[in-house]
Amino acid sequence: MAGEICLKRRGRQGKELRVYPQVSRVTVYPDCVQVVFVLPNGLDPKEVRKRDWLFEQTFGENIELFGSSKTFTLNIYSQEVRRFDYDPEVVVRAVEGLRLPIYVGRSRTGDEVYDMTEHPHLLVAGETGSGKSVALRSILTTLIRTAADRLELYCADLKRSEFHLFKGVAREVVVETPQLHKIVLRIRKEMRRRGDLLDREGLANIDDLPEQERPPYIVLAIDEVALLKKERDLMDGIEEISAIGRALGVFLILSMQRPDSDVLDGKLKNNLTVRMAFRHSDEINSRITLGSGEAADIQQSQKGRMVLKLDGLTTVQGPYLDLPKAKALLEPYKRAEEPAAAQNEPEISEDDETIEIGVL
Ligand SMILES: Nc1ncnc2c1ncn2[C@@H]1O[C@H](COP(=O)(O)OP(=O)(O)OP(=O)(O)O)[C@@H](O)[C@H]1O
Ligand SMILES: [Mg+2]
Repeated sequence: MAGEICLKRRGRQGKELRVYPQVSRVTVYPDCVQVVFVLPNGLDPKEVRKRDWLFEQTFGENIELFGSSKTFTLNIYSQEVRRFDYDPEVVVRAVEGLRLPIYVGRSRTGDEVYDMTEHPHLLVAGETGSGKSVALRSILTTLIRTAADRLELYCADLKRSEFHLFKGVAREVVVETPQLHKIVLRIRKEMRRRGDLLDREGLANIDDLPEQERPPYIVLAIDEVALLKKERDLMDGIEEISAIGRALGVFLILSMQRPDSDVLDGKLKNNLTVRMAFRHSDEINSRITLGSGEAADIQQSQKGRMVLKLDGLTTVQGPYLDLPKAKALLEPYKRAEEPAAAQNEPEISEDDETIEIGVL
């Protein structure tokens, strides 16, 4: 009442009538009370958003408010999501049974995990220092440790700051756009081969192939896609992967500070169905990533905190995995020999006949 989230109408005799939102459901969970309320027709949902401070004043800071035009859900939690360290054993247990597991972190209800083969391409966004690179480190480390036998991983680190960690573990780690170009060409070519194979077999997805004929999943992870802004051809290739990769077992993980429309055009962005939105500087930027403003509410001190958009929106704390620990975890997966430097590899063109596809 104090916040005046209501529709004001003039009644008979000029008396003011106030129509408040109606609570349609209250559910008490062990660590959360969920209140669903419905706005009266005619009340602008922005009035609710504008007054989220009111909910914080009343219920504390540990709340989440989601909603659309009419129905809103307010989650009031009893516990804060705290920062925590990556625990390899917990992660392995949490992702058991998933084909291409992504361990996201902890939400108020427990571990958040999903299978990339079901929710294909991932966009990681957030302002500088918000936790994107640490998230990629933890996600890729988990993938390698839990799916090495069916994964072929390519990493592009255009800032040259992160992915050296995966050298000798990933199939290739590149730091320059021409090298990335070659990888994208190779992947496109492999997609055509897989597409032909599926056509011949009359199947819709490589997962339908008998196990011994099933090619490995290909994951292409790129930190700082914004640096590819001017690379139109490359971005077209990446868009093609995003459009048809899923059935062919080819998946993208892209990170950027802000999913600028200059870099990610609408089509590509729409194909990146899973979003991890770390702290965004303002609501407008948060809307670009998530379609709603929540990621601007994350505090600067909340490193590794994100709003995960998967089926709905969930606040998640990503695990902290430092470099030495990640190195130690990946050591058993290192190939004995470093692959030849990329410059020495044969040129690959669109119509090359041979392609090498191995595991990791
Ligand atoms: N999950 C986490 N838990 C605790 N601290 C974290 C977490 N993620 C990141 N941090 C802290 O925040 C710092 C910055 O994180 P990170 O390098 O991942 O940011 P970024 O989003 O990649 O930034 P940039 O856009 O500048 O590359 C890390 O060095 C670490 O100290
Ligand atoms: Mg980074």
